[in-house]
Amino acid sequence: MKEKINELFLQRFGDHGTMYASAGRINLIGEHTDYNGGFVFPGAIDKVIMAEIKPNGTDKVRVFSIDIDQYSEFGLKEEDAPKEAWARYIFGVCREIQKRGGVVKGFDAVFAGNVPLGAGLSSSAALESCFAFALNDLFNNNTIDKFELAKIGQSTEHNYCGVNCGIMDQFASVMGKKGNLMRLDCRSLEYEYFPFDPKDYSLVLVDSRVKHELKDSPYNKRRESCERVAKHLGLETLRDATMEDLNSIKSDISAEDYMRAKFVIGEKDRVLAVCDALVAGDYETVGKKMYETHEGLSKDYEVSCVELDFLNDEAKKLGVTGSRIMGGGFGGCTINLVKNDLHDKFVEEITERFEDKYGHAPMIYDVVISDGARKLD
Ligand code: GLA
Repeated sequence: MKEKINELFLQRFGDHGTMYASAGRINLIGEHTDYNGGFVFPGAIDKVIMAEIKPNGTDKVRVFSIDIDQYSEFGLKEEDAPKEAWARYIFGVCREIQKRGGVVKGFDAVFAGNVPLGAGLSSSAALESCFAFALNDLFNNNTIDKFELAKIGQSTEHNYCGVNCGIMDQFASVMGKKGNLMRLDCRSLEYEYFPFDPKDYSLVLVDSRVKHELKDSPYNKRRESCERVAKHLGLETLRDATMEDLNSIKSDISAEDYMRAKFVIGEKDRVLAVCDALVAGDYETVGKKMYETHEGLSKDYEVSCVELDFLNDEAKKLGVTGSRIMGGGFGGCTINLVKNDLHDKFVEEITERFEDKYGHAPMIYDVVISDGARKLD
């Protein structure tokens, strides 16, 4: 990928720039908790967006996407927003840096990636984080704090891409560290690295290849439900709500809002239980909680689909320790905690069973927990 980017950069711009990369992410547990002030437990993975970038001395950004095979050129004022959806992520990052008083001038860029699109692995956060990191390095002497870079990506989603996401994906993409998961408290924004190197287990992603696009999905609606319930309880977020609180207002809120909040309240506690279990080396409990999360995401939060429920059921039948939908939902991947001696059989069987039922094979990815945003040599 690097060579291809270098070659095309030279061809288009007659020169060479600096290389940057940022990662996609997994999340072991803690789904839809980030925008509720709860905990998440993500890590960056070895699938990245990579870009070569060079200031061009103008006030224009000229950027080529290898994977989409499209070129976009835009200015840096609010009214200059490009029409290509992919370019809006880059434009948004530029604007959000400027809004915070940072400097962005014209630059040339070529980028590519191997984070599968729409699989729930946060390809968009990887793109935002790669450019946020690069523009901080190229124009701001790295004076913007790394956490702020994640917030720049998140604001880009809110203000330029129509997704009212939480902070998890951009946080994981920017702050990821090889071999470590991170527990982030999305209210205080305190975080802790957790070395993750289970000897007898591996994490396997099974991508249903059912496309997931949060923008036109009811993702924002889920968030609104949670905010309505929190407001009804007089709380800032559901972080502080208990099941007793929720049950005390059950008759005043819609059945749907009740179900959404019920999931979030349960999920908050599951993240903490999983952290404790990990420290104790108790992977059976980790797996059990993952299945509980799937059940909640499917029945109460209703962000699953038949293909993902099928993958979950089959994983259970095959004796997989833990399995659940990962990310926003509405398609994409399941994440599976698999005993090493079951790994090959699981991959073979799940592929065959899924293909028999849905006519196309899922993609399988073994997870390698890797570094987040960085400059490349
Ligand atoms: C998407 C969002 C995140 C988070 C997850 C669900 O990935 O971008 O902020 O809400 O969904 O956990």
